[in-house]
Amino acid sequence: MYARRNMEIVKTVAELKTLVAAFKDEKKTIGLVPTMGALHRGHASLVSRSVKENEVTVVSVFVNPTQFNDKNDLANYPRTLEADCQLLEGLGATVVFAPTPEEIYPEPDTRSFSYPPTDTVMEGAFRPGHFNGVCQIVSKLFMYVEPDRGYFGEKDFQQIAVIRRMAEDLKFGLEIVSCPIVREEDGLALSSRNTLLTADERQIAPAIYKALKESVAFSKTHTVEETKQMVVETINAVEGLEVQYYEIVDAKTLASITDWNMAEHVQGCITVFCGKTPIRLIDNINYK
Ligand code: PAJ
Repeated sequence: MYARRNMEIVKTVAELKTLVAAFKDEKKTIGLVPTMGALHRGHASLVSRSVKENEVTVVSVFVNPTQFNDKNDLANYPRTLEADCQLLEGLGATVVFAPTPEEIYPEPDTRSFSYPPTDTVMEGAFRPGHFNGVCQIVSKLFMYVEPDRGYFGEKDFQQIAVIRRMAEDLKFGLEIVSCPIVREEDGLALSSRNTLLTADERQIAPAIYKALKESVAFSKTHTVEETKQMVVETINAVEGLEVQYYEIVDAKTLASITDWNMAEHVQGCITVFCGKTPIRLIDNINYK
């Protein structure tokens, strides 16, 4: 059954802050789920978790221009606010914050954030300025909402590491909750960008997770370098897929490792170009 829960949709920071102040007066715990919209089951899992763990859940829907370093990517990013709000109401969200770029950036954001190596390797190296933009928007959201908990998906593994560093550095005093990757039945990690794949591209994309999963068993009897090579070669052998990078890293610092014993927790992080456009797909897997 579809339950109406009187969710509020606000577009300005002033309205958002008024609502938040009232919740704080009532001593309600607040969970924040930052998103760029075009919501799917991956986002929904974060929202459901926040609804379960907090009395109030604020979901932001904002395609943040400062984290895009490719104008076409920003222009083509799917925008589906109406459907997003329907989904969020059904999940029990309390407030949707859906501002315009002018509302968030009345003036250019000149702040710069730097948390190496978390923000300089992998996505940081291939998308210069990306994590600076992520820190700009997420820090503003943390300041407006002052949440008890912020919810982020492990799909963007590196993003969580950067945000953790920022939250510690700026003493936001909230708990960063990381949530497992939600996948399609064939293993493809859910992503708003998946809707941009052609039928043929959609068919080959699951090869990414398949290779990652196989590499976990492979890693038990092979070196880090051999495991990296196996993943890259397996994926590149699929016509239409091309690995941009595959790094096996310390899950906390994101520094590359050369031996399985160099870190307590080890993650493999990959970016693959899929198809002619091409669409950039990211994924990751835990080794230990
Ligand atoms: P967006 O790509 O919309 O993702 C919003 C949140 O949903 C992120 O924390 C992301 O990791 C999580 N998410 C996406 N796909 C997921 C999946 N398949 N399983 C689990 N979680 C998933 O990430 C951003 O937006 C932006 O960078 C943002 C943090 C909102 C700042 O603009």
